[in-house]
Amino acid sequence: MRDPDSELDQLKEKHLLRALDQGINSPVETKGLTSEDFVQFSSNDYLGLASHAELKAAAIQATERFGVGSRASRLLRGGSLIHKELESYTAEFLGTEAALYFANGYAAALGTLNALLRKGDTVILDKQCHACLIDGARLSGATIRVFPHNNLHKLEKLLISAHEKSSDDSRTLIITESVFSMDGDSAPLKEIIALKKQFAALLMVDEAHALGILGTNGRGLCHSTGEPRSVDLRIVTFGKSVGSAGGVVAATSQWIDLILNRARSFIYSTAPPHAQAAAALAGLKIIASPEGDHLRQALADNVRLLCEKLPIKPPAAAIIPLILGEETSALRAADHLRAGGCIVPAIRYPTVARGAARLRVSLSAAHTTEEITRLADNLSLLLDSGKFTLSATA
Ligand SMILES: Cc1ncc(COP(=O)(O)O)c(C=O)c1O
Repeated sequence: MRDPDSELDQLKEKHLLRALDQGINSPVETKGLTSEDFVQFSSNDYLGLASHAELKAAAIQATERFGVGSRASRLLRGGSLIHKELESYTAEFLGTEAALYFANGYAAALGTLNALLRKGDTVILDKQCHACLIDGARLSGATIRVFPHNNLHKLEKLLISAHEKSSDDSRTLIITESVFSMDGDSAPLKEIIALKKQFAALLMVDEAHALGILGTNGRGLCHSTGEPRSVDLRIVTFGKSVGSAGGVVAATSQWIDLILNRARSFIYSTAPPHAQAAAALAGLKIIASPEGDHLRQALADNVRLLCEKLPIKPPAAAIIPLILGEETSALRAADHLRAGGCIVPAIRYPTVARGAARLRVSLSAAHTTEEITRLADNLSLLLDSGKFTLSATA
């Protein structure tokens, strides 16, 4: 039998071993810094809502009213009025007919794809799609086709081929992200919508890193295409800019009814805690309010400040990848930044392709000018040291 030690050793040799890390205990790099001295640039809490007083209060009130655990799956009467309210608010906010709330975005993607697709269908994904979309596609049994990142020409070719093989009974689904989690760039949604219409395909867009940031009132990139309803299925997550946790699929009532009946990660899983749903609802309401506009402006100011200081091209939203290539370069660069009090994660294979290891900087409205300046100074030192070069893809 394969023993775990040999697998762990192999990962270590390839510099791919991962461990839980609070980011403050590495003796070489900390040089006497205490936890308060570190600034996190690894969080997806883009608007700083995770510690907002209204979200905390909403979670506490929901717990007091409904209890901690939700007791059963939604179909077995787990959950509460809050879950329903969150779904209708999300649908209205995104401009869709209906929405369904899962425990997290991963489960929402997995369940939706498993509900929609089966053997004989074709799913066409952007190469940089998140693991939950790839895993959902794999589990569905559909034929998987992948196009190079944002390559419309290749997508069209795959659509032509899928169209030729399709039948009245089959489905072709294109999947992309509005803001890519590891590259920070966005998909050419208008062009993809035109292609999906031309080939009568379905389109699913994961808005995990755009919700709250892009589009009017943070409604996401689909909304700013001017024809959000041409996107058949939208996945949004509440563990990032919304400041809570959970994932939603938003679509027409028909699709949501089907997903409710077929998504195994929804049907066979305990409803998310009331507190989590209530905090997500409070977070979304802030995002839609003038306070949300103010937070988006603060985030945009921080992104602009860092990009001007380095200088680099501004990202689509709040994720800035600095691609270094080798796993070891990314790990050493992360260590250097940590020594300067900045926690920036090194992202390695299999999260990104081999040879494309990188630092992933994520910014928040909650960062102060001093914190952004500290990061810019540390990054500049790192790049000026000559020990690290950004690869051509950066
Ligand atoms: C693009 C994308 N989709 C989905 C998810 C999964 O969301 P969750 O963290 O809520 O499971 C993530 C998480 O990082 C993501 O980056």
